[in-house]
Amino acid sequence: MKARIVTLPGDGVGPEVTAAAVAVLQALAGHYGHEFSFDEQLIGGCAIDATGEPLPAATLAACQQADAVLLGAVGGPKWSDPNAPVRPEQGLLGLRAALGVYANLRPLQVHPALADLSPLKNERLQGVDVLFVRELTGGAYFGAKTRTDDTATDECKYTVAEVERVARRAFALARGRRKQLTSVDKANVLETSRLWRSTVQRIATEFPDVKVEHQLVDSMAMLLLSQPSRYDVVVTENLFGDILTDEAAALAGSLGLLPSASLGESRVGLYEPIHGSAPDIAGKGVANPVGTILSAALLLRHSLQLEAEAVAIEAAIDRVLNDGPHSRDIGGQAGTQDVLDAVLQALDGYASAAPSLRS
Ligand code: NAD
Ligand code: IPM
Ligand code: MN
Repeated sequence: MKARIVTLPGDGVGPEVTAAAVAVLQALAGHYGHEFSFDEQLIGGCAIDATGEPLPAATLAACQQADAVLLGAVGGPKWSDPNAPVRPEQGLLGLRAALGVYANLRPLQVHPALADLSPLKNERLQGVDVLFVRELTGGAYFGAKTRTDDTATDECKYTVAEVERVARRAFALARGRRKQLTSVDKANVLETSRLWRSTVQRIATEFPDVKVEHQLVDSMAMLLLSQPSRYDVVVTENLFGDILTDEAAALAGSLGLLPSASLGESRVGLYEPIHGSAPDIAGKGVANPVGTILSAALLLRHSLQLEAEAVAIEAAIDRVLNDGPHSRDIGGQAGTQDVLDAVLQALDGYASAAPSLRS
């Protein structure tokens, strides 16, 4: 198949991990006879430096015409002055809003070979397999903002329609898994959370086969550490989802491991690792590319419907996490290129061992 993929390497380690994922997609296209074209565009701090804008019009237009978008990371100390008039992160938020990708899927699994890196005891990590569905285009991220010399406000707003669509997506995903949905809110305090909870309760009647529970976000932060294997699909609002998924990444062993897929009603999906630009290690060639390579697998699955190819990448990553080499964040000495080389080699082996999967 032919597919147009826009790449947005962004800032910090973004270009390093994006290049690794593109190399994997190119190798995969060769193995399976696909034609992927890659169109690199600016976003974030590098876009501010080049054009003054974090999301240049040319970048947005390219993304809207693409089959899928693969993003590295945006931001960094150079652009982080709290009084700066324009910020890299505005580019990412603007892109998510413009693409209408309201459902951010963040899967969490703990690879057995990495279980010792987790702060939790090994036995608590058995069977951990959680799919977070983070609402991505609403809440405090997108409400009105005000700032005077002595006061600032961030409006947190949700409409019923915004909650309904992400809840339906989460229920449908739960239906294809272990049929359990945990909805996380702060309904004991926040009006938006009460609207969230009553909407999720109503949508639950459309999915009688899915078992639903509601958790308050503070206790959920604790439960994720004490009983992580209890959870299947976890749906929550934008800010809670941002925080809980970085916490979840610690269970897997590193923030560098977790991928994400951001989906809406339109064809174009946005794929990015959940980590940021990692300024402390940027430019050193040591960033873990696994989260971005797994995001490329999600791109194949959700935007291009290439399930066998997605599985091939996941199998290659599984092999490398099992056998090494491991990057520094997961206790090894390998650089980004060493990990990439091992993934490409594992992919070669997988593709030639499974010729029936070729399309
Ligand atoms: P971060 O995720 O960039 O880094 C947190 C820690 O995790 C650092 O110690 C970093 O070295 C480590 N880490 C992250 N990714 C790694 C990888 N692939 N391999 C090895 N180690 C990795 O979070 P931060 O430091 O709080 O934020 C830095 C900047 O990134 C900020 O400007 C923030 O806004 C931005 N950010 C962007 C995105 C995104 O573009 N999607 C996501 C999160 C943060
Ligand atoms: C993420 C990041 C972003 C977010 C920032 C960079 C805007 O932390 O993708 O998790 O908060 O959504
Ligand atoms: Mn985040």
